[in-house]
Amino acid sequence: MRLVAWQPDDLLRRLDDVVAVYGEAMGYRQELLQTRRGYIGAHVRRQGFRAVATLTTDGRLAGFGYGYTSGPGQWWHDQVRSALGEPAREQWLSDCFEVVELHVRPAAQGHGIGARQLRALLAMADGKTVLLSTPEADEQKSRAWRLYRRFGFADVLRHFFFPGDERAFAILGRELPLAERPAEDAPGIVGI
Ligand SMILES: CC(C)(COP(=O)(O)OP(=O)(O)OC[C@H]1O[C@@H](n2cnc3c(N)ncnc32)[C@H](O)[C@@H]1OP(=O)(O)O)[C@@H](O)C(=O)NCCC(=O)NCCS
Repeated sequence: MRLVAWQPDDLLRRLDDVVAVYGEAMGYRQELLQTRRGYIGAHVRRQGFRAVATLTTDGRLAGFGYGYTSGPGQWWHDQVRSALGEPAREQWLSDCFEVVELHVRPAAQGHGIGARQLRALLAMADGKTVLLSTPEADEQKSRAWRLYRRFGFADVLRHFFFPGDERAFAILGRELPLAERPAEDAPGIVGI
C-alpha cells in the first residue's frame, strides 16, 4: 500500500474509483452516489483543498480522504454555523479545515489505513481548527468514532440534523496542528 497526496486533477481522474470506494464504505445506493459525484467534482476547486489516497501495489484505490477551508456560503459550513453560538463560531469556524470525506474500502479496513490518511491530510491542512461530521453511532463499536477519538476529536455538536437527512450526526473538532511526534502518554495527543 502506498499513501499519496493528490492534486485536484488526480482525484478527478480517479472519480469513478473514488465514488465506488465511498459507496462501498458508506453502503449508499447508486442514485445517491450520482449526486455525490457532482458535489465532489465541485469540491476539488475549493480554497485550501487537500487530498490523500491509498493505492495498492497494482494501483487500485484502497481509500481516500479530502477536505478544504470551511467558509461562509458553503452549505455544510452555514448549517453548522447556524447551530453554534457566537463564541463557538469564532472558536471553531473562523480558520477551519473541514474533513469532508475519509473512507477505506471495507476489505482494507482495520489495518491503519484510515489513521494514516487522516494524519497525512491534517498534516497538509491549513487552519487553526479541523471539523468533520460523522453519523451518530456507538463510540466503542464504530471504527470512525474510535479513529476520531484517538486523534483527539471532541464534541462540537451532537445529534445534529442536516436538512434532508434523517440521520443524526455529530460534529467533531480539534485544534491544528497535530503533534509532530506524538507521545503515547501525552493527554490529547494521538499515539498512532
Ligand atoms: C472510518 C474509516 C475511514 C477508518 O479507516 P480504517 O482503515 O478502517 O481505520 P484504521 O485501521 O486506521 O483504524 C481502525 C482499527 O485499526 C487499528 N489500527 C490502527 N493502526 C494499525 C496498524 N498500523 N496496524 C493494524 N491495525 C491498526 C486501530 O486500532 C483500529 O482498531 P479499532 O477499530 O479496533 O480501534 C473506515 O473504517 C471507513 O471507511 N469506514 C466506513 C466509512 C466511514 O465511516 N467513514 C467516515 C465517515 S465520517
